[in-house]
Amino acid sequence: MKRGGTDDQKRRAAESAAEAVESGTTVGLGTGSTAGFAIDHLGDRIDEGLDITGIPTSYQSRQRAHKAGIPLATLEDDRPDIAIDGADQFAGTTLIKGGGAAHAREKIVDSAADRLLIVADPTKEAEILDHPVPVEVLPDARPTVASRIEGLDGEPQLRAAERKDGPVVTDNGNLVLDCEFGAIESPETLAARLSAIPGVVEHGLFVGLADEIHVGTADGVVVRTE
Ligand code: A5P
Repeated sequence: MKRGGTDDQKRRAAESAAEAVESGTTVGLGTGSTAGFAIDHLGDRIDEGLDITGIPTSYQSRQRAHKAGIPLATLEDDRPDIAIDGADQFAGTTLIKGGGAAHAREKIVDSAADRLLIVADPTKEAEILDHPVPVEVLPDARPTVASRIEGLDGEPQLRAAERKDGPVVTDNGNLVLDCEFGAIESPETLAARLSAIPGVVEHGLFVGLADEIHVGTADGVVVRTE
């Protein structure tokens, strides 16, 4: 499900976004391998005197931030001035997220931030989004949500765990349906239809949220704003 750029590309993108963080701010900390490099770089900057507080988006990002020495808070305490997060695919500034099943909390934290910077490698870029859309569902609602998604011409597949028998269970105790829709001509329309299904906790379409996409290339970083 995940696409594979190189670690160098991911690190370049991540460090470019992490350099935009200013002292005295609160930072939403995304999930995944690319956002993880941003967390590490923020930790390095803290060692050099940067003063920030982080709000993690998952168990994984909380652990990585803790290791990097970033003081942590919750949305009870603060709102992020800026968030840095990864993506599974982007077209313009519209994203598909949730390859690590963290998209519900990511969307909450990312949408609470004044600015959202996405960090990605070039393999994530597309003309038209066509990656399967992760949909987090309440366990009891899986059959009814799956039928409704089929009614939207989607093909839902329950995400299986890799080192556990049975399904992936999210940090929130829910299940994930990876939903194939082919080429998504209108992400806004699909996002609204998915959000309207009872039992859907959150889907991985991020429409109108990202301000900048930092794309790490073989020798630099390209920043896309539209
Ligand atoms: C987590 O659920 C996702 O939204 C990640 O942000 C996304 O999968 C990107 O991860 P990578 O940077 O590891 O590709």
